[in-house]
Amino acid sequence: MDLTQIRKDFPILSRQVHGKPLVYLDNGATTQKPKCVIDKITEMYTTTNANVHRGVHFLSQAATDKHEASRRVVQQFINATSANEIVFTRGTTEAINLIASSFCREFCKEADEIIISAMEHHSNIVPWQLQESISGVKLRVLPITDEGEIELGQLETMISSRTKLISVTHVSNVLGTINPIEKIIEIAHSYNIPVLIDAAQSVQHISIDVQKLDCDFLVFSSHKAYGPTGMGVLFGKEKWLEKLPPYQGGGEMIASVSFEKTTFANLPFKFEAGTPDYIGSSALATALKYISNLGMDNILKHEHELLTYATERLSEIDNLKIYGTAKNKSSVISFVVDGVHPYDMGVLLDMQGIAVRTGHHCAEPLMRRLGIESTVRASFALYNTKDEVDVLAKGVKRVVKMF
Ligand code: ALA
Repeated sequence: MDLTQIRKDFPILSRQVHGKPLVYLDNGATTQKPKCVIDKITEMYTTTNANVHRGVHFLSQAATDKHEASRRVVQQFINATSANEIVFTRGTTEAINLIASSFCREFCKEADEIIISAMEHHSNIVPWQLQESISGVKLRVLPITDEGEIELGQLETMISSRTKLISVTHVSNVLGTINPIEKIIEIAHSYNIPVLIDAAQSVQHISIDVQKLDCDFLVFSSHKAYGPTGMGVLFGKEKWLEKLPPYQGGGEMIASVSFEKTTFANLPFKFEAGTPDYIGSSALATALKYISNLGMDNILKHEHELLTYATERLSEIDNLKIYGTAKNKSSVISFVVDGVHPYDMGVLLDMQGIAVRTGHHCAEPLMRRLGIESTVRASFALYNTKDEVDVLAKGVKRVVKMF
């Protein structure tokens, strides 16, 4: 990985914040965009803007071709069997809401159970809670250890004939834990239970092969994977997507409409009501090609080196506690320094040009499990450097001295 060249690909990285060079370590919230992605958006609006799947005219055909070609790029990126298994959504959140709504409507009745883990983001908690009041399903929560690892031994004791689906995150957005999803899927399938994987924090760091994993559903957001905002992906095995009812109604998702009887379109359009983001899909495909060209294994190796180095540097600081010490971790470090509120740490790091996230990270139940209210979180991406880790460590020390 030629970091000097890579950093030139991301125009925003050369800007200053509060008169200091930007050190962007909030990649778990969103990643910055390479110029090829930014250019693709302009190129699409400049040359190929027309609504897709609707027109016989040249531009509409061209936009449709690009949109569907982008679907195939996503398919290849996660190695899905067919492009029919790729549904474009607004993001991870909408994808989970789609499955929660359609799956519970079709397959769940009062007192059936959905298993999630204690480290889920709100987007993999609240959609299921909304279903509690609609279809009567109950949430069961897989516990985690103090280190931030799922207590896998508990899974089989929680599974019963009422368990209808297991929905877990691949990587925790707070702890960085890489969960043993292969094992979870294997156990679930031995009881014929489908599994949804929230890959919002993993798809940009770890190579994913949905056929090898054998997951039933997998979801992720474009903006966390160097693509545009407002775009996301739901992968579902065709056999499941065929059985699920539509999530939203409108144009695009129908075969025919009458006041007496409406029939629905084939996959994947059955789940894509309304005009899709055909500009976003091209930009997402460009982002996925960009990271594929760098090599997912190279990205993982580089980010792992950053994680190891940052863990060492931050551990040198007195009274700093790292939350999330799982053996298998992605490039996320959450920490708290005694006597310094995470919010103050965030603001004072910002004054030094360092962008980190502070707060509960949309994982309040996890915070409660850890016995804290918030953390400071540094999350690394492919363009971050060891020098930036040094700036972070120095910055934290400077803040600690002030208190
Ligand atoms: N889910 C995003 C994060 O963890 C916003 O920061």
